[in-house]
Amino acid sequence: MEGSTDSTPVEPLLALRGISKRFTGVQALAKVDLDVRAGELHVLFGENGAGKSTLINVVAGTYWPDEGTFRFGGEDIHHLPPQRARAIGISPVFQEFSLVPSLTVEENLFLGREAASGGILRVGEMRKRARALIDELGFDLDPGSRVDDLSRAHQQMAEIAKALLGRVRLLILDEPTASLTERETGRLFELIERLKRQNVGLIYVSHRMREIRALADRVSVLRDGRLIKTLDAAACTDGDLVELMTGRKIDLLYPVITHKPDRIAVDVENLTLVDGSVREVNFYAQSGEITGIAGLVGCGKSELIRAIYGLEPIAAGLIRIDGVPYEHPAPRQSLKHGIAYFPANRVAEGLALSRPVRENASMTALDLDSFAQFGVLRPGAERAAIALIMDQLKLKPPNIERIAGALSGGNRQKVMLGRALTRELTVFLFDEPSVGIDVGAKLEVYQFMKRLVEADAAVIVVSSELPEVLALSNRLYVMHHGRIATELKGEARTEQNVLASFFKEHLTAEVA
Ligand SMILES: Nc1ncnc2c1ncn2[C@@H]1O[C@H](COP(=O)(O)OP(=O)(O)OP(=O)(O)O)[C@@H](O)[C@H]1O
Ligand SMILES: [Mg+2]
Repeated sequence: MEGSTDSTPVEPLLALRGISKRFTGVQALAKVDLDVRAGELHVLFGENGAGKSTLINVVAGTYWPDEGTFRFGGEDIHHLPPQRARAIGISPVFQEFSLVPSLTVEENLFLGREAASGGILRVGEMRKRARALIDELGFDLDPGSRVDDLSRAHQQMAEIAKALLGRVRLLILDEPTASLTERETGRLFELIERLKRQNVGLIYVSHRMREIRALADRVSVLRDGRLIKTLDAAACTDGDLVELMTGRKIDLLYPVITHKPDRIAVDVENLTLVDGSVREVNFYAQSGEITGIAGLVGCGKSELIRAIYGLEPIAAGLIRIDGVPYEHPAPRQSLKHGIAYFPANRVAEGLALSRPVRENASMTALDLDSFAQFGVLRPGAERAAIALIMDQLKLKPPNIERIAGALSGGNRQKVMLGRALTRELTVFLFDEPSVGIDVGAKLEVYQFMKRLVEADAAVIVVSSELPEVLALSNRLYVMHHGRIATELKGEARTEQNVLASFFKEHLTAEVA
């Protein structure tokens, strides 16, 4: 009977009907229907806080919905602890990572699986399988390294490998490329194509239009916890999707920024870091313009700005702020020098998850004393200031007394950004500024940078999203293996030139 006639409707792999989920004070999902077919990639699209991760958590068994029905593989599911979800082939890669930091990649892959597969005898086999899988994925990842020694990109790769180790029928990816660059992203996309051919269903969350275009068979748009519409990807434009997502028309353009390069605000001479991730780098950034830094994962671009802020040990070289040598950079000192830093890894480095948004936004990173003072001296003014800032960034829900841990991923990022507006600062270091934030919020962040540079601040943007860093920066450095490979200005700032220098050897550094 199965597939005997073309007209027999094939039951989807996953069929959710009327799914609702409420958290204190928020209806995260309201009567959502979702079908995912075997062999299809189904994108969930929606603003920060729309309910995408909550829906994924329901599918993966992390939350049981308050109401609704759940069918998977033609069977009604009445109870779904995460273990069972994995056992029946539902495999999630979450937005916030789940690896155990003190274990190796390999150990993390085996975790919870050894017993199930019959103990010691299988361990050797599983190790072989883990290595083969990582090879097959084409990820440049050492299975023997400890997770806490890995960059965020490598942790992401390990998460993906972990999800693929068992038998997978439905793979769930919540913003998997947020910390991958072009090359790893390409590998992931090849893998996705293979899985689709093997009839695996995929749920994919992304805020990046290019990816949605490249991958999606269908798109379900969520807004305020409700399903607005499910569309065939081929039959809708970016504009359609954004309009459905926000309920209004939005221009997807980058703002026109007037750069007026002025004094040299940050000047780095022959900088080499203890771990060798940055070697003999010469670099400067002027006030009144955005300086971009592009490069592949592991090229040292994040480490460079982290070193300026005082988060990476320096082996040799000199940093000057406004022409004055800045010895032994440290975060607290950096703030006094007017330097702000926005980490890409907002959860681990940025936020106190058990504290309210208000405290997190006013507590300038690692500067707890000044926060306490601020809080004690002018609580009312603080509240009003933060409320205004978070309103500009469109925090959802717009409640600054909510704890940061209850926010969606993108809204956490907004809280981090809100911090910069609470102080008199002159140098802004952004590491992957738009990771995980929706189209509307991205535009807010770009507008925010525009205001900063037009008010004569120096803004340095490290980004793996080429269109972003090209559009925003006035001058652009490309890093390769810890060194500056190229500096591009004006007309020379093209995607082709950047890509070419990703792979070419560091000629400029070598000659010097
Ligand atoms: N554990 C939780 N406790 C309380 N509220 C929560 C919790 N998780 C999510 N929420 C709330 O539920 C709503 C939906 O959040 P969800 O994380 O699903 O959004 P999202 O669409 O994934 O957004 P993003 O694009 O920012 O990741 C938000 O209002 C969020 O604040
Ligand atoms: Mg999310």
